[in-house]
Amino acid sequence: MNKKGLFISFEGGEACGKSTQIKLLKEYVSTLKNKEDFVFVREPGGTPLTEEIRRLLLNYEIDKPLPMTELLLFCAARVEDVEKIIKPALEKGKIVIADRFYDSTIAYQGMARNIMNVEQILKLTKTIIGDIKPDLTFYLKLSPEEAFKRKSKINEGLDRIEKEGLLFHKQVEKGYDYISNLEKERFVIIDANKTPDEISNEIIKKLNNKINNM
Ligand SMILES: Nc1ncnc2c1ncn2[C@@H]1O[C@H](COP(=O)(O)OP(=O)(O)O)[C@@H](O)[C@H]1O
Ligand SMILES: [Mg+2]
Repeated sequence: MNKKGLFISFEGGEACGKSTQIKLLKEYVSTLKNKEDFVFVREPGGTPLTEEIRRLLLNYEIDKPLPMTELLLFCAARVEDVEKIIKPALEKGKIVIADRFYDSTIAYQGMARNIMNVEQILKLTKTIIGDIKPDLTFYLKLSPEEAFKRKSKINEGLDRIEKEGLLFHKQVEKGYDYISNLEKERFVIIDANKTPDEISNEIIKKLNNKINNM
């Protein structure tokens, strides 16, 4: 692939503040002259089909998928998002900002559900989407205990995976720690206990640094 753009992902366990930060980043981008250069995508989602897969994965009450089915549905949606949104945007030189990418599969389906080990997930990922990987990944690190406190304030509207217990989310954190250590060069680890504005400033600074070095 003749890649010219920049691919940024946001990762971290539930309630670490990904959506909050992406919203703040969108506000910042909306003030820029080149705002058209930015493309935001949530994973899975963003196309009619992947929004439907997202609904099946997160909010489908009728039947619970087997762990392997869950893994493959996330992967199926990723293929769609990569081929239909992410690659075309990068080929046009855009800056793509994704709410989650394959590190989530490593943490959730790999480490927490233990469906495949990390090496197998990386191999599967490479098989289905090729060499594409984020140039920069913001990992918002928040202890599962702190995340649970935040979630207890929200209470309503938690999806199927958010409703998993503390042990599950501790494994998710282990997964993120593992992959962020394995692919250090692209990871920026952020203390998600700071205020949203502090975190946002840190992210914008790091992002601008990366853009200036493109
Ligand atoms: N830095 C922060 N400090 C305290 N609370 C936060 C912070 N960032 C987000 N929150 C709150 O935590 C909850 C989850 O945030 P959200 O951005 O939806 O997380 P995610 O998308 O990672 O699940 C929301 O109620 C949000 O207002
Ligand atoms: Mg979110």
